[in-house]
Amino acid sequence: MNLITADYIYTPKGFLENCAVAYSKKIEAVDTLKNLAEKYPDADIHYAGKNSVLYPGFINTHVHLEFSANSTTLKYGTFMSWLDSVVENRNELIQKCDNALMLSKTEEMLHSGVTTFGAVSSFGAELEACMKASQRVVFFNELIGSNAAYADALYNDFLERMKASQHCAPEDRITPAIAIHSPYSVHPVILQRAVQVAKQHSLPLSAHFLESQAEREWLEEGEGGFKPFFEKFFNTSTPVTSIMEFMHAFDSYPTHFTHCVHANEEELAHLSSKGHSIAHCPRSNRLLGCGRLAIEKIQELHMPFSVATDGLSSNWSLNIFDELRAALMMHYTEPMEVLSHQLIRAVTSDAATILGLNVGSIEAGRESDFAVITLPDTPSSVEDIALQTILHTQKASEVYISGEKIL
Ligand code: BEZ
Ligand code: FE2
Repeated sequence: MNLITADYIYTPKGFLENCAVAYSKKIEAVDTLKNLAEKYPDADIHYAGKNSVLYPGFINTHVHLEFSANSTTLKYGTFMSWLDSVVENRNELIQKCDNALMLSKTEEMLHSGVTTFGAVSSFGAELEACMKASQRVVFFNELIGSNAAYADALYNDFLERMKASQHCAPEDRITPAIAIHSPYSVHPVILQRAVQVAKQHSLPLSAHFLESQAEREWLEEGEGGFKPFFEKFFNTSTPVTSIMEFMHAFDSYPTHFTHCVHANEEELAHLSSKGHSIAHCPRSNRLLGCGRLAIEKIQELHMPFSVATDGLSSNWSLNIFDELRAALMMHYTEPMEVLSHQLIRAVTSDAATILGLNVGSIEAGRESDFAVITLPDTPSSVEDIALQTILHTQKASEVYISGEKIL
């Protein structure tokens, strides 16, 4: 048994002082150091240091590692110019992205305290790097393909990738999962099959949804920036589905919808009524000219959300604290203290619930995944710790996964 104590411990009951955690692979107990030391007299005791805060390991629910080679290549500013640049540079970027590069990006996440991430994979090429990574990985096998003529072949390829991710060893800490690329890029027939697979095997399911205004225009009217895009690259000028048809395909299975910046109030209410959640990627949304997710509407609906980096195809870092700071700045009318607490929940307990993992909370029975962060000075009140953590953290001081000290 091990005991870890810090100046503050973030628990479902708030930030506790003068407390400690007894843990092995899983958390045994949270109590005062005195009580735990008496209960476990042979335990090793570790104090995380002055101004330390012990958090559950952070969770980045949505990242595309295969685009890790992008830094200055892709075009930012508007969604369509970005998508054009992705199509144009995709092969070169993917070729440049080897296992060593992807692994180094998982380490960047680890240094920011991320002990679990959701990797969206379109080819399965990330699987090896994800198996080697220290973290738990929800491996989202992505289904893509709007052309009915190729749909069966693409679906079979997707099933093969699914199998590979289902055959990982327990020590690889891989949870197989399914990602639907988007309404504009997935044919409804294969979409429905994939949702059935997720449901049958209780797999985490996610989908990009209403990321850009252009997506909305295309799905509603078959017009806008997607029209020349589909004419040029896919020799078609009609969308394969509608917003309603796509959204209703998920009615019977809770799904993690990424972005939803352009979902209207009615659509958000529908998503909420079906138990869905949102992955919020503020820096990606800003860089691709997509705008701001109306987080106040999500809050009104009590809809769970996570905060995620998306890939380096639409970001400059995979540091979860860079993302939280962006969220804090983007939603500038939100009360600071409330938003800060909500953002911390979005990368801990809420993200864990969304992904269906037994992590994200410091309480007995959870996996012992921890991130220690060290504030630069003593916080003037306990209420400020969430905000001060977001403002001041570049790197975690210590990271533990399944009770093992990784950093
Ligand atoms: C498609 O397969 O239709 C597609 C793929 C990527 C982007 C857009 C569309
Ligand atoms: Fe994404």
